[in-house]
Amino acid sequence: GESSDAVNGDPRRRHVLLFPLPYQGHINPMFRLAGVLHSRGFAITIFHTHFNAPDPSRHPEYRFVPVADGMSSATTVPVAIEDVVAQILALTAACEAPFRDRLAAVLDEYSKDAVACLIADAHLLPIFTVATSLAVPTLALRTGSATCCACFLAYPMLFEKGYLPRDMPVKELPPYRVRDLIILGDDEDERGGQARELVARAVASVKVSSGLILNTFDALERHELEGLRRDLAMPVFDVGPLHKFAPAGDSSLLRQDRSCLEWVDTWPPASVLYVSFGSVACITRREMEETAWGIAGSGVPFIWVVRPGMVRGSTPNQQELPEGFEAATRGRGVVVAWAPQEEVLRHRGVGGFWTHSGWNSTMESICEGVPMLCRPNFGDQMGNARYVEHVWKVGFEVDGELDRGNVEAAVRRLMTDKDGAEMRARAGELKKAAAECTGKGGSSSVAIDKLSRFGSHARN
Ligand code: UDX
Repeated sequence: GESSDAVNGDPRRRHVLLFPLPYQGHINPMFRLAGVLHSRGFAITIFHTHFNAPDPSRHPEYRFVPVADGMSSATTVPVAIEDVVAQILALTAACEAPFRDRLAAVLDEYSKDAVACLIADAHLLPIFTVATSLAVPTLALRTGSATCCACFLAYPMLFEKGYLPRDMPVKELPPYRVRDLIILGDDEDERGGQARELVARAVASVKVSSGLILNTFDALERHELEGLRRDLAMPVFDVGPLHKFAPAGDSSLLRQDRSCLEWVDTWPPASVLYVSFGSVACITRREMEETAWGIAGSGVPFIWVVRPGMVRGSTPNQQELPEGFEAATRGRGVVVAWAPQEEVLRHRGVGGFWTHSGWNSTMESICEGVPMLCRPNFGDQMGNARYVEHVWKVGFEVDGELDRGNVEAAVRRLMTDKDGAEMRARAGELKKAAAECTGKGGSSSVAIDKLSRFGSHARN
């Protein structure tokens, strides 16, 4: 889809250039943002890697510009979480020179000053550097929460104060230090160094930009947003939840199995548990078994997203689910490889979400008033779970070793206990607050207006 003059030919139309980080949790918010800006009259040009490339035929209204990424395959290669950071660093380094050529060509082609700005994922620092060197203003999109952004900004301070590297003594468990308890991100080793590099780059991308775009809303993170505006001294556009402004489910890398929607129709309101660990998180075979038998034992109806390859160390044709699970839960549950998640959460039959606490999932759940059972896996997910339980009180974390007994108890607590009902009621309040923010004159609508005006005036 390199040439599409029909859509981008109007010389008066202003162009917004976008570059998502090629992972599902980052692609979705960027495409939702594209949808919002397109509906505001901007022409959209999407630069993308070959790795996890979008399908241009699903967006004939956009122009797609592929950028060589140095990866051997054009398809989705599942990568272990531990290697994602290294992959991002390699990918962004490989893209830098090819992107410079592509961007220069696009700037030559579009009429002078028609390009408003480039909006790139904050993890793509070299892309920001190239754009800046070619005099294209940038806006950074961070796909996590405002709090997570504040955490990234605070990293050098935390380091200074000795929280990191994690050699603080854990006084309850001598002679352990914090770092002894944490397997990922040991600051002394290569992976720890890469994780630090990733954080530093995401901060640098924001700081070289003219503004920051966050998929959150005022009623959810007012205080955190105020803090960011003060610390960054730049416009912070709180445009979330983006999926409420943009057309749904059109940037999925995997085919969404819609059969589960009809199935939920047959259940009473708020009775079905939706289980999904997002696009990257993996679990061990043991966790898989305990989760399965715990869900079975709870007696609660469920939709479970079991991605192929989700169980660590499983071979392609190996059964993910334990033997006998299907028979034990027949008629009471469906297992799909990938679900139309937004629609599942919106369905009135769904009353709880077992989630890995990815930010998109968290937002999607909150906006439908669905309380959560959190089992964070990596990155920002622990922080998201913490807020869900302790700040918004719309769910709780299941910590430590999983066994079928505690899984069963947790599922019951969420789905059938008074406790869960209270969380559901609070989630319902947040759903209303989100609807106000995205409604006419609401904070997120106003932020989108401001963002559009920014696009209209940048480089003028
Ligand atoms: C990752 C990180 O986990 C997350 O914390 C970070 O903020 C963004 O990158 P991911 O792990 O995939 O993302 O989780 P999440 O942020 O929840 O995004 C998953 C997306 O896939 C959601 O938009 C969800 O609607 C969609 N999805 C998930 C489906 O469409 N179908 C499914 O079956 C499961």
